[in-house]
Amino acid sequence: MYTICSSCERIDHHPPKPIWLCGCGKPRETHYDWEGQSTPINVIRENNSLWRYESVLPKVDAQVTLGEGNTPLVHIEKNVWIKDETVNPTGSFKDRGMGLAVTMAKAQGVASICLPSAGNAGVSAAAYCQQAGIDCHVFLPETIPDPFKAATDQYGANLVLSGMTISDAAKAMLEEKKDDWFDISTLKEPFRVEGKKTLGYEIAEQMDWSLPDVIIYPTGGGTGLIGMWKAFREMIGMGWIEDKMPRMVATQSDGCAPVVNAFQAMEKDTVFWNNSDTIALGLNVPGPLGGHWILDILAQSNGIAVSTPEANLTELTQEINAKSQINASAEVGTVWSAYLSLKEAGWIGDNDKVVLFATGIERG
Ligand SMILES: Cc1ncc(COP(=O)(O)O)c(C=O)c1O
Repeated sequence: MYTICSSCERIDHHPPKPIWLCGCGKPRETHYDWEGQSTPINVIRENNSLWRYESVLPKVDAQVTLGEGNTPLVHIEKNVWIKDETVNPTGSFKDRGMGLAVTMAKAQGVASICLPSAGNAGVSAAAYCQQAGIDCHVFLPETIPDPFKAATDQYGANLVLSGMTISDAAKAMLEEKKDDWFDISTLKEPFRVEGKKTLGYEIAEQMDWSLPDVIIYPTGGGTGLIGMWKAFREMIGMGWIEDKMPRMVATQSDGCAPVVNAFQAMEKDTVFWNNSDTIALGLNVPGPLGGHWILDILAQSNGIAVSTPEANLTELTQEINAKSQINASAEVGTVWSAYLSLKEAGWIGDNDKVVLFATGIERG
């Protein structure tokens, strides 16, 4: 296993110690010696967690797992499916990333973890750290609804509230951070992406080792989008699927749309979004560290970034929840809105197979 920087492309082989950002300040991506080698499909079918894809994950002696992953792909209408990530152990797709990040941190001897969160990542980190016997410090915005605080508390994490967004909470964390706390903020360590990439393996397995034409993903920090893209490249390299990648769609609310703005302006990186505000809390990420990476994947995939008017979000969320029978939080409203508008515009054709995402449970 080694890493390649997502920006300067520096290659590093690491000792068994926690891995963090590249010296250039950008995220590293994990790579393996088996990439590009023709390999029979290797899935542990009796394992009902993401560890069924153990053969494409880092090798560890002990997995920290709560049974994350292996979630349903629900058929909602002709050629349209929704991946129901609300059934994960703590109610969101964050469990995939935290399962891997905490497994690796434990294996590397980390005793304390810290992270800022828009809500779900904090709940999830708290749960996996409790399971691993690691201290967990979660920094949330003051505006966070009570159910998130209660859910984080329930797993015994140290909770600190500061500011209006995840960016403010991150500033507070850097002020309070002790030297021996390992910072697992989005994309700062490489293994949350490894957990999220199992979304891509799972979609392929559930579609009988083929991929949809379009994937519509609610994008905050972008870990899931980045992880799925990585999974598709890995699977093509091993010959598990054909060389036909989906078009990736990043959705945001117009209350916080740095990715959509940069995409439309054909910029290479995002610009910080001031005074962001949206009920889709996971999308209230004004300055994603991996903005350049998300935009690059959208371009490579012939994809697009679409924002939804905040004023319509509640109604759209209710509409898709009624249709899918999933009790998902408002991020799903941006996904449904993008699907409807791209279908109407003909960007999604009648024969295109489309996968939508319900990333987290409504905790309200
Ligand atoms: C429910 C939900 N959906 C989407 C996102 C955005 O995920 P990502 O940061 O991987 O883009 C988050 C992140 O907090 C979330 O909690």
